[in-house]
Amino acid sequence: MSADEGLRLRGVGKAFGGRLVLEDIDLDIPAGQFVALIGASGVGKSTLLRVVAGLEAPSAGRIELRSRNPRPDIRMMFQEDRLMPWRSVLRNVTLGLEGREGGDENARALLDAVGLAGREREYPIVLSGGQRQRVALARALIHEPELLLLDEPFGALDAITRATMQLLLEGLLARRPRTVLLVTHDVEEALLLADRILLMHGGRVARDLAIGSPRPRHRGDPALAARKEELLDGLLATSHGR
Ligand SMILES: Nc1ncnc2c1ncn2[C@@H]1O[C@H](COP(=O)(O)OP(=O)(O)OP(=O)(O)O)[C@@H](O)[C@H]1O
Ligand SMILES: [Mg+2]
Repeated sequence: MSADEGLRLRGVGKAFGGRLVLEDIDLDIPAGQFVALIGASGVGKSTLLRVVAGLEAPSAGRIELRSRNPRPDIRMMFQEDRLMPWRSVLRNVTLGLEGREGGDENARALLDAVGLAGREREYPIVLSGGQRQRVALARALIHEPELLLLDEPFGALDAITRATMQLLLEGLLARRPRTVLLVTHDVEEALLLADRILLMHGGRVARDLAIGSPRPRHRGDPALAARKEELLDGLLATSHGR
């Protein structure tokens, strides 16, 4: 990864009908940085992710993912697992890799890494919500994406499963760093995982905080507690339209 690799947004805007959701966003995310995106419901977080993923065209501006790879891959993961119920766990992970050499082997290694070794032949319906999200994570990572876009991926999970998933993600990224943009409503999750937290408000990035605490981080860390107060205050203030 070199210094000029990463995601760059310049003047990005998105309107639906007459309603402007994203307005003139400039953003540079260096390769390998883990960025959390927080903000009130409806502020445009998912829209920003979809525009970055190329699932929606921006109304204005440009988005570049600069990489040595001529065809950098972007993968997205959602609050729902979006697995295919008629495909086994293994075949959900290898989706899109059919016939590619080593695909099954990589999928098995990733399933092992997410704690699902031995479950390859089972179907999504027999898995718990947390296990299904782990399959979805393995499916995203098998493509070795330059950019991983996570839209509240652990939002539907109970607190313990969520904490387990956060540790799992942190561990996987420590081994294979990649650029991540994570949308979350959980300020603690943002503080535990991110190098940087963006607070969205009024179609823009209203705050941009660097989180320099060493890793692994602990929930009880007083430095994080102070940032948590600050972020919650920011969220409350922007939720009331101030
Ligand atoms: N396809 C669409 N057509 C029209 N309006 C849309 C569309 N997608 C999103 N919007 C609008 O854009 C705004 C931002 O939506 P978005 O889903 O990005 O919010 P969000 O920040 O992700 O909210 P939440 O935290 O609730 O998930 C909302 O007002 C929403 O109604
Ligand atoms: Mg959303």
